[in-house]
Amino acid sequence: MAVDLLLGLQWGDEGKGKIVDVLTQGYDVIARFQGGPNAGHTLEFDGIKHVLHTIPSGIFHKNAQNVVGNGVVIDPVVFQKEIEKLAPFHLDLTKILFISRKAHLILPTHRLLDAASEAAKGKAKIGSTLKGIGPTYMDKTGRNGMRVGDLEFDNWKEKYRALAEKHQAMIGFYNVELEYDLKELENEFFKAVEALKKLPFIDSEQFMHEAQKSGKKILAEGAQGSLLDIDFGTYPYVTSSNTTAAGACTGLGVSPKSIGKVLGIFKAYTTRVGSGPFPTELFDEDGATMGRVGREFGATTGRPRRCGWLDLVALKYAIQVNGVTELIMMKADVLSGFDTIKVCHAYQYRGTEITHFPYTLEDDAVTPMYTSFKGWNQDLTGMTQEGDLPQELLAYVHYLEKELEVPITMVSVGPDRTQTIVRG
Ligand code: IMP
Repeated sequence: MAVDLLLGLQWGDEGKGKIVDVLTQGYDVIARFQGGPNAGHTLEFDGIKHVLHTIPSGIFHKNAQNVVGNGVVIDPVVFQKEIEKLAPFHLDLTKILFISRKAHLILPTHRLLDAASEAAKGKAKIGSTLKGIGPTYMDKTGRNGMRVGDLEFDNWKEKYRALAEKHQAMIGFYNVELEYDLKELENEFFKAVEALKKLPFIDSEQFMHEAQKSGKKILAEGAQGSLLDIDFGTYPYVTSSNTTAAGACTGLGVSPKSIGKVLGIFKAYTTRVGSGPFPTELFDEDGATMGRVGREFGATTGRPRRCGWLDLVALKYAIQVNGVTELIMMKADVLSGFDTIKVCHAYQYRGTEITHFPYTLEDDAVTPMYTSFKGWNQDLTGMTQEGDLPQELLAYVHYLEKELEVPITMVSVGPDRTQTIVRG
């Protein structure tokens, strides 16, 4: 069986949690393949709003198996809190949540290193979520990391100690003021490790192989977005993993040959949280309206998201890098009430009009060029089928499909599971 992918095509926060939740009915296995608790996947159903950070978004569908793959980095402390928040749902997690032994662990000192590194950068800071993501992936690629599988060996605390001591020396190197009580952080960590150990540890590449062989339908759920990819994003203002399609192969151990549909998800406008270039960012009332109506605050950090018009240059690039086969447009309802809706179709880049994504998006090098569309006023949130949608929105959708050369198969008109229009 093929492995389908669901990927964010912008700077994250496209609404992947909601769509995985909508799609899970059709899948037997939902797998996370990269990132960690920097992600915040929001699900809304039956009047409940729930945010997941490391746990895959299939967790509320009792028949689905959820896999945290080898490409993910896990903070046992955040993970334990996530598990506790699931208590009211009475799920037997030992039967539906599987953790790769090869996933790397975020230590308390990784978080401290993240904070020290950002503080030392001053104005050039990345705007990291400070969850320890960068330092943990640095230890992974530097071949110093601690993995979930290490916890099955008696000497894991010795490994932990050696790594934590190295980190403390590194924190000293940054020469910044950090207040922390390491003993307290460690006690919390050790307790959380015991909670993590109650879940089944797996070799995710074997698990995925067996799942495929036995005909299970598998969905790999991306975190963050393509423009935050460590290789193809707006470096250095990116996260530390491959958020694009290829990351699913390395982050789960599935072969490129087995990738099926690539579902690309984007908002009808654009948002970004943290630092870094954002050509279509709005600093006016329109941007403020998008933020207010779209409730654009980070699900993990609560930071307000920067808002702007849709950027087709960036979106085409993401579609190309990922090989997207279907598009899903989110938050169309947030654009209701705008007289004019704009889409960036090209950049003025150092005096020339370009439609490809350039090496750098430094703010002074790129000026967006816009096509304008008439807006609509209707409230979309109660609409259930394509025929209900205003003509102006359909004109917008048709224009995007023509430009992007990929069908838009779903349009989301509100945060709830049920507010999703599947197009014929
Ligand atoms: P880090 O991955 O926490 O180090 O953050 C690096 C950059 O990616 C920062 O600009 C973050 O705001 C951004 N980022 C990380 N995770 C997410 C996410 O899930 N949604 C949106 N932005 C994210």
